[in-house]
Amino acid sequence: MQNYEQIFNRRGKSYQLAMEKYPHARDEEFKTAVRKLILKPNSAVLDIPAGGGYLASYLLNKNVHYLGYDFSGEFDDNHTGIRKCKEASIDLEKNSVDEVVSLAALHHISEREAFYSEMYRVLKPGGQLIIGDVASGSKLEYFLNGFLDSWNSMGHQGKFLKESDIIELRQSGFRVDKQEEVYAWRFANANEAMDYFRLLFCLDLNPTDRELLKALKNLGVKEENGFSVSWGLTFLICQK
Ligand SMILES: C[S@@+](CC[C@H](N)C(=O)[O-])C[C@H]1O[C@@H](n2cnc3c(N)ncnc32)[C@H](O)[C@@H]1O
Repeated sequence: MQNYEQIFNRRGKSYQLAMEKYPHARDEEFKTAVRKLILKPNSAVLDIPAGGGYLASYLLNKNVHYLGYDFSGEFDDNHTGIRKCKEASIDLEKNSVDEVVSLAALHHISEREAFYSEMYRVLKPGGQLIIGDVASGSKLEYFLNGFLDSWNSMGHQGKFLKESDIIELRQSGFRVDKQEEVYAWRFANANEAMDYFRLLFCLDLNPTDRELLKALKNLGVKEENGFSVSWGLTFLICQK
């Protein structure tokens, strides 16, 4: 059986290509996450798992020190500068990081409690772990564990955010506040949106445009000033 590391090693290139081809599609999502950070000059911001380090460009001009880590080796090259680590162990000192961002990825983290404890260890007192992920029972869960699972040959079975995560985060020592955010992924037109979704989610079993468009319409689309797909994550603001 494949584990997620193997899956991401295969999926990573396609994901990276989507993010390079359409670097502004998820602007609102990254900006939403950045707005939740408490930044001081020279703050150390850990992005985990960072993929290709896309968050970094939203932190330019903020005078912070960006640290990008991923569990998959696929992003770990000279191009992205992303380092590899494990869910439960990262090569950073205790109390060394001001803010941690974990965006759109918790649903693939299997050792959740160990991950929370490790983030608690590296954060400075008063620092925050900002988790943004899909809520269990949401339309996005059905899109990812239904549509994507059917059209990606490696499948997709994410474990999305539940109340039990909040309980486990509190047991790890965090104070937790939950915030729901709704925004859009934006494109010039429907063809670009479909190209992005095919690449980002590696839809290698090739759904037709009709099938893909139907899935996007189930999420909610708007065709004014381009083409946008309704998206939204639950954010957990966890303070040490
Ligand atoms: C959907 S991407 C999110 C990346 C980035 N934070 C973003 O918002 O674009 C999911 C990330 O989780 C990583 N990942 C999560 N769990 C993993 C695991 N168990 N093994 C390998 N990689 C994992 C992948 O490498 C990938 O970078």
